[in-house]
Amino acid sequence: MSSPLPQSLVLLGAGKMGGAMLEGWLRIGMNPAGISLIDPKPSDEMVALAGEKGMRLNPDPHSLGPVEVLVLATKPQTLDTAAPAVQAFISPQTLLISILAGKTLGDLSARLPNATAMIRAMPNLPASVQRGATAAAAGKGVSAAQRAMADALLSSIGKVEWLEDERLIDAVTAVSGSGPAYVFHLVECLAAAGAAAGLPADIAERLARATIEGAGEMLFQSPLSPATLRQNVTSPGGTTAAALEVLMADDGLKPLMQKAVAAAKRRAGELSG
Ligand SMILES: NC(=O)c1ccc[n+]([C@@H]2O[C@H](COP(=O)([O-])OP(=O)(O)OC[C@H]3O[C@@H](n4cnc5c(N)ncnc54)[C@H](OP(=O)(O)O)[C@@H]3O)[C@@H](O)[C@H]2O)c1
Repeated sequence: MSSPLPQSLVLLGAGKMGGAMLEGWLRIGMNPAGISLIDPKPSDEMVALAGEKGMRLNPDPHSLGPVEVLVLATKPQTLDTAAPAVQAFISPQTLLISILAGKTLGDLSARLPNATAMIRAMPNLPASVQRGATAAAAGKGVSAAQRAMADALLSSIGKVEWLEDERLIDAVTAVSGSGPAYVFHLVECLAAAGAAAGLPADIAERLARATIEGAGEMLFQSPLSPATLRQNVTSPGGTTAAALEVLMADDGLKPLMQKAVAAAKRRAGELSG
């Protein structure tokens, strides 16, 4: 089977998320000679990486052949100013993949009218450790081969879910986009509860942190559902069951999480509206 990786790719915006994706593409075997980076002020590390791997940095668009994939990873507010320069990289064969938060496929085609195939994706922060969760929605002009290519590129930074309806992206933002912060806060809450239960604060924090790290790793490695993993560590009448009775009460964690996710989804809608 031929590799679904593109022969030529332009990354616009080599910042935190662009840099994480770039690392992923190199790891899965993309030819660096086929990668061009566009960034007005690349970091010293990025300049060094481009030189070391033989990637092109800020090339003239006319010096490149047809670009197979163009990835937009600048801040969303730069779309308007960047659009004229971006157009120069787009040909009828180009697949555009945008990770700009809040920018819809409609926004993108209004600013980049020569783009015919577009995918909107929402990765999250753990992409920087190759354990991201990305949801993506494809516009009408995307072929099956282009979608497979986008899937390979996005899978290089973690798991990928495809959405049939782009409007679900606000809910994705509220679950996986903002989700890492909820988990960090869970560590803070568990540590504070440990301190309230009598542990020295630093020990409580280290234990809480290691617990979430370990539970996350088990989720990563295990094929079992979270509910089964939970049941497996809960003996009837035991200590875990006593705590879960509180957490799983009608006014426990579930309704609180629903409220939090609904607030994030509402805000995502306001910010993209
Ligand atoms: N970080 C996340 O967790 C996350 C999650 C989901 C989606 N996203 C999306 O990913 C995008 C990038 O976020 P980030 O956190 O990676 O931001 P970032 O670190 O600021 O990266 C953006 C990069 O683009 C560069 N840039 C600015 N204007 C440009 C232009 N006209 N042409 C080319 N490059 C340009 C910036 O340079 P300067 O620094 O010099 O301005 C910077 O290097 C955003 O649209 C965000 O919504 C991020």
